[in-house]
Amino acid sequence: MKKYFVIGNPISHSLSPKLHNYWLKENNINAVYEKIKLEENEIKDFFLKIKNQEINGCNVTVPFKKSVIPFLDKLSEEAEQTQSVNTICIHNGVVVGHNTDIIGFHKAINSLNYKIKDKKILILGAGGVVPSLIFALNKMEASEITISNRTIKKAEDLKIQFNKINTVGWGELPDFDMIINATSLGLNNETINLNTSNIGADKLFYDVIYNPKETNFLKLGKKLGNQIENGKLMFIYQAFEAFKLWHDVEPNVSEKVLKLLDHD
Ligand code: ATR
Repeated sequence: MKKYFVIGNPISHSLSPKLHNYWLKENNINAVYEKIKLEENEIKDFFLKIKNQEINGCNVTVPFKKSVIPFLDKLSEEAEQTQSVNTICIHNGVVVGHNTDIIGFHKAINSLNYKIKDKKILILGAGGVVPSLIFALNKMEASEITISNRTIKKAEDLKIQFNKINTVGWGELPDFDMIINATSLGLNNETINLNTSNIGADKLFYDVIYNPKETNFLKLGKKLGNQIENGKLMFIYQAFEAFKLWHDVEPNVSEKVLKLLDHD
């Protein structure tokens, strides 16, 4: 039986096993998908098991999306440009790192029928997922991307990695059409203090978090009369693309799959 994992730390919250095991069963694929919490010094041994194909593939989540790169033989173009890997496959013995967060976000936005082209985007946060968001937003031809992060150095580093982005101080709100919360604030119902007096009601508030379904950030957007969306479809579509890479099958994104991930 083939074995797949998601690695991260913490990992208990991950719904990837639920989703992948559902699709494996639905498609009669003889494989199993589990989550495993790793410490930084355990990554090397884990990759030895991938190399000798005791493990057939894995997803990577916070905080390892960058630190796995030295253990890979090859990177896809998207993984190379973002220096972020969330899916690992073995092709003819070669261990390849992919980034399916980018296409996951792109497909999630497409499914909203929201046009990013010529829009001003403000991203709160500069953590692991942000390079993927920037890559996708550039591809969708956003007119302006601005990063606001508590630790300004991390926002400045992104400016070096991607030209054409702006940075503002934490808590500053420049004019925007879409605001994305890419911080981990919200996971535990924490609140981001934003000065909402100039925001208006014609924006899109997007949170990469999908559990809770409505973070305080999304509640605020809604209260002000804006469109809101959580990261559930992004999560589903990044998993969809990983499933396709591993099993060469396009799984079904059905109502049942959407419901599977609702648990608050
Ligand atoms: P990592 O930074 O290890 O990649 P992440 O979960 O991808 O982890 O990112 C966490 C993001 O949430 C970061 O942008 C972080 O800001 P810092 O770079 O300043 O750490 C942000 N974040 C987490 N807790 C926060 C808080 N209490 N206030 C503001 N931002 C916070």
